[in-house]
Amino acid sequence: MDNSRTLVAFFSRKGENYLVGSIKEGNGEILAKEAASMLSAPVYEIASEKGYPEDYEECSKAAKAERDSNERPSLRFPLPDSSGLESLILVYPNWWGDLPMPVYTFLDGINTDGLMVYPVCTHEGNGLGMTDRCLSGVYPKARIMPGIAIRGTSVQENRADAVAKLRDYLEKAGFTL
Ligand SMILES: Cc1cc2nc3c(=O)[nH]c(=O)nc-3n(C[C@H](O)[C@H](O)[C@H](O)COP(=O)(O)O)c2cc1C
Repeated sequence: MDNSRTLVAFFSRKGENYLVGSIKEGNGEILAKEAASMLSAPVYEIASEKGYPEDYEECSKAAKAERDSNERPSLRFPLPDSSGLESLILVYPNWWGDLPMPVYTFLDGINTDGLMVYPVCTHEGNGLGMTDRCLSGVYPKARIMPGIAIRGTSVQENRADAVAKLRDYLEKAGFTL
């Protein structure tokens, strides 16, 4: 597959993380940068303008409130040019079984018609959760491809293994690495 029309987009949170304490670079951010480097593709950070609390429990509450109200938080960075885009490697954490709401803000803002979306979800036990079904439901014109779930703690503690899984996933999806 030609990678020139591929974008890697990620949402990832620094701060207090499940089991591993405070982290300087989020699990998804690490994987997204690895994917971008493997594919020689540009990378876009999906970040909420208002951000999230450093404290895990506080962040959990804020995330749940946003999800319950189906919010679309404003993004910190201008949207990338999505004209001509064919494939999107979408890296995000499982938050309450769903995607963090800024990811929806991002997807609402780009042209997802016919876009091949490859979900790369980090989690702490629930895998992709409902995220792939949520994506298919909200963006029926996008082609949501089978995703991959990678444990967040494995990214921090056994990075080589997590990166190898990602590489294998992208290769099997047909990307040229
Ligand atoms: C607000 C919040 C909700 C979460 N909900 C779940 C969940 O429902 N299931 C799960 O397996 N992990 C859950 N997690 C754990 C994250 O998915 C996991 O730590 C992930 O690797 C974080 O990625 P990041 O460092 O890129 O932000 C949650 C974490 C947060 C902060």
